Amino acid sequence: MLMASSASAKGHLMGNLHIITHPLIQAKLTRMRDESTPSAEFRTLLKEITLLMGFEVTRDLPTMLATVQTPLRAAQFPVLKDDSFTLVPILRAGLGMVDGFLELMPFAHVGHIGLVRDERTHLPQEYYFKMPKGFERSNIFVLDPMLATGGSAVDAITSLKRRGCEAIRMVNLVAAPQGIQAVQEAHPEVDIYVAAVDEGLNEDAYIVPGLGDAGDRIFNTV
Ligand code: PRP
Ligand code: URA
Repeated sequence: MLMASSASAKGHLMGNLHIITHPLIQAKLTRMRDESTPSAEFRTLLKEITLLMGFEVTRDLPTMLATVQTPLRAAQFPVLKDDSFTLVPILRAGLGMVDGFLELMPFAHVGHIGLVRDERTHLPQEYYFKMPKGFERSNIFVLDPMLATGGSAVDAITSLKRRGCEAIRMVNLVAAPQGIQAVQEAHPEVDIYVAAVDEGLNEDAYIVPGLGDAGDRIFNTV
């Protein structure tokens, strides 16, 4: 299992918060924020950003040497020490981040947690939980583009921990400071990777300036 990272992803490190400031990621995110960006392009951009973020989220994966026979001779080269990974998208919007990660790690398994926020209280309600065999012992990447109040992320991580998971990383596209604080307080050992930290939340608990409702924009349900 991976331990919580002590090294920063490229960008700034604040405690266990990694802000990935790569210019390509930032430029793509700006396109996603634009309300005139159509659903199909929004999905493509999310997949591309996830793949780019994936490089940094996995930067510190431990390797070990294995013997490989090249056409010339046998020699030792690095392989992943532990290739047991479970991607856990939070439904619905987290689904938009699965394919980008799977391009990087086609051997990863995928589990799903269904959570929806109550429109009035903004509290998440779990409606689905399905994990692959052995997920408890794997390295888990929880995926959700939006970290707003943090309620969904905190509940998803709590659900996973209750079932024995220990090595958990959280990957979000856009976060509000309130969401980051909520996850850090509830789960201080979990590393959080984000592409942007926005100003805050509006009265409907939407991230501002944000990018709107990620699920609606991915699935064209506005
Ligand atoms: C959105 C988003 C997160 C959650 C973030 O999902 O994808 O899961 O809200 O908000 P929080 O940090 O305040 O919990 P939503 O509940 O709208 O469901 P959906 O993806 O099915 O639209
Ligand atoms: N969920 C979203 O999709 N967007 C937000 O800004 C907040 C929660």
